[in-house]
Amino acid sequence: MKKDVIIALDFPTRQETLAFLDRFPEPKPFVKIGMELFYAEGPDIVREIKARGHRIFLDLKLHDIPNTVRRAMAVLSRLDVDMVNLHAAGASAMMRAALEGLTRPDGTRPLLIAVTQLTSTDAAALKDELLIGTPMEETVLRYAQNAARSGLDGVVCSPLEARTVKNACGDGFLTVTPGIRFADGDAGDQKRIMTPEKAGGAGCDYIVVGRPITQAADPAAAYARCLREFLG
Ligand code: C5P
Repeated sequence: MKKDVIIALDFPTRQETLAFLDRFPEPKPFVKIGMELFYAEGPDIVREIKARGHRIFLDLKLHDIPNTVRRAMAVLSRLDVDMVNLHAAGASAMMRAALEGLTRPDGTRPLLIAVTQLTSTDAAALKDELLIGTPMEETVLRYAQNAARSGLDGVVCSPLEARTVKNACGDGFLTVTPGIRFADGDAGDQKRIMTPEKAGGAGCDYIVVGRPITQAADPAAAYARCLREFLG
């Protein structure tokens, strides 16, 4: 398994996204397409970016009954994406159904990654709204273990949790980590952050990087720096 940097394409339109991607030389970076761009432009934007030679993490965070998720995942696997995700809160039956749906007739499939607890959910919301009395860290680890036992490939987590997730779920269980900032960069709204260099030694397999690259004066140079620091 190869560590890599994934650029979060948090743009509202096809035009802005493609103008941004035009600035990158070969080899084309691994990119993340989220709900905003996908809902604005539909599956054609995925096909178009794939045809330009990028690997794609389609970040749609599926969460529904097992039958619906199985069928939706079958559609996503035909888009030829490389990584997709779902909410582990959908529980094991949904995660197993997702894997079935995702597996192509030739046995290949995109990587399937689980979201444990959203980082926007704080301890108070967990206890008072979701009525989960177990501490956050335990919930996150249990959801990660449920995902691993269901056959998923990994979880999205904070770089600060990556080592703990690996210890609980095995070294081969992937950690996909946002919250990455350069040492001399602006944290923005991210609170629990790590530099690419530290993430490289902290058990992170894929780092997801948005604004430090998308808002840089020279995005290709920022991406190259990120890769260099992360891969060491
Ligand atoms: O711009 P920035 O580097 O903060 O972007 C991080 C990307 O990772 C965004 O697309 C954001 O939605 C996503 N993400 C995150 N925290 C999570 C899950 C996803 O920042 N817990």
